[in-house]
Amino acid sequence: MSHPIITTGLDIGTTKICAMIGSYNPEENVYQILGVGQYPSRGLKRGVVIDIEETKESIIKAVAEAEKQSGITISAVTIGIAGDHIRSLDSSSTIAISHKNTGSDTSSPVEQSDVNRALESVRNINLGVDREIIHVIPQEFIVDDQMGVKNPIQMSGSRLTVNAHIVTAAINNVKNLVRSVQSTGLNVQDIVLEPLASSKAILSADQKDMGVALVDIGGGTTDITVFLDGSVRHTGVIGYGGSIITKDIASIIQTSFQEAERIKKNYAWASAGLAEQSGPQDLVVASLSDNKEIHLDSFQLSQYVEARIEEIFVMVKNEICKYTELKNLHAGIVFTGGGSRLKGLCQMSEQIFYIPAQVGYPIRLPGLENNEYGPEYSTVIGLLDWNEKHKKNELILTRKDSDSKVWGKLKKVISEIAKNLF
Ligand SMILES: Nc1ncnc2c1ncn2[C@@H]1O[C@H](COP(=O)(O)OP(=O)(O)OP(=O)(O)O)[C@@H](O)[C@H]1O
Ligand SMILES: [Mg+2]
Repeated sequence: MSHPIITTGLDIGTTKICAMIGSYNPEENVYQILGVGQYPSRGLKRGVVIDIEETKESIIKAVAEAEKQSGITISAVTIGIAGDHIRSLDSSSTIAISHKNTGSDTSSPVEQSDVNRALESVRNINLGVDREIIHVIPQEFIVDDQMGVKNPIQMSGSRLTVNAHIVTAAINNVKNLVRSVQSTGLNVQDIVLEPLASSKAILSADQKDMGVALVDIGGGTTDITVFLDGSVRHTGVIGYGGSIITKDIASIIQTSFQEAERIKKNYAWASAGLAEQSGPQDLVVASLSDNKEIHLDSFQLSQYVEARIEEIFVMVKNEICKYTELKNLHAGIVFTGGGSRLKGLCQMSEQIFYIPAQVGYPIRLPGLENNEYGPEYSTVIGLLDWNEKHKKNELILTRKDSDSKVWGKLKKVISEIAKNLF
């Protein structure tokens, strides 16, 4: 009988830092959440650490709470990364399949070592000194002229090509993120692009096959991942999220950020039209000056919100269209992150993009189908699954955390064939 495996996730978000400790039972293939700790995040701006001390303090508090709830002390975490320093590109590489004396003189069956070499060689791109690769995500293999191969192992051929999606980050931003965690005494097991983690918690295999854009609207960033034919095709991060809407409200009506946040969550709609349809509500807001009260209604409030949502949607569309037209996303758009709670967001999206939209909840991990966590927990729940998938040899290469002396050197993690991202 195998023991449950303890698995941890640390989502270092712009508005909140959330630590989650779970267990995974490999025999029954089920996850369980054992402890969750959350603390406001003050050391990040637009997904990037700008104050290591502040970030460290929030991490300590969030982890301590998760440890207390679970009764487990952790030593390492899988963390998420985002921010508009993230870039992605497609790359491909071809290698000769090593000859195995199979009797045939030209072709041999593809072995794991061939796949590993192909994945090694696809990393050979000119990045510049200030960037590093955080993921190499194979999209398809080509064995000789046979295209669209998902798992080339055992297939016969003489040439193996891999088409991969490569995600890179600014080295200094990665360093600062890792340093914030290490300064608390925790090790970093893996660094995972946040939308990739979220997608594990939210999307079904069918959605990925049909074509879907996952849009995670957080506080400081909006992260986009496009899946088509089962694979990741595009990743992008926009340096705006729900906080910019709150700031707009605060500055237009001259109230505090906290008060603006409160009225946004309770009264704002993604468009003024939707606010009107729902029957405008009057509201009273505390003004910044002389304790005066401000009177407005949800229609007016939603006008301010609508302008910013439209702007974010244009950027989302531009990101998606870097890879494909919206009409090719037959499973539509799935919104997640705290920002997806904005009233009327999906209706507004459907009015603008003319494709189906829904809010994605983190319910895809086996055993967690009925969990009570909302869309702001998608990233941390997806992180729980990350290391487990690695043990099962998922074919997605991650920048492994190295010890701090060997900064800049990527440890190359060559995994075997995976099922999940295909
Ligand atoms: N009911 C709601 N209506 C509108 N916005 C909401 C609601 N609930 C939360 N939000 C917004 O969600 C945002 C926070 O989302 P989330 O917790 O996913 O962010 P984060 O992970 O900390 O940030 P990031 O991913 O950008 O680093 C805030 O801007 C908050 O105002
Ligand atoms: Mg987030």
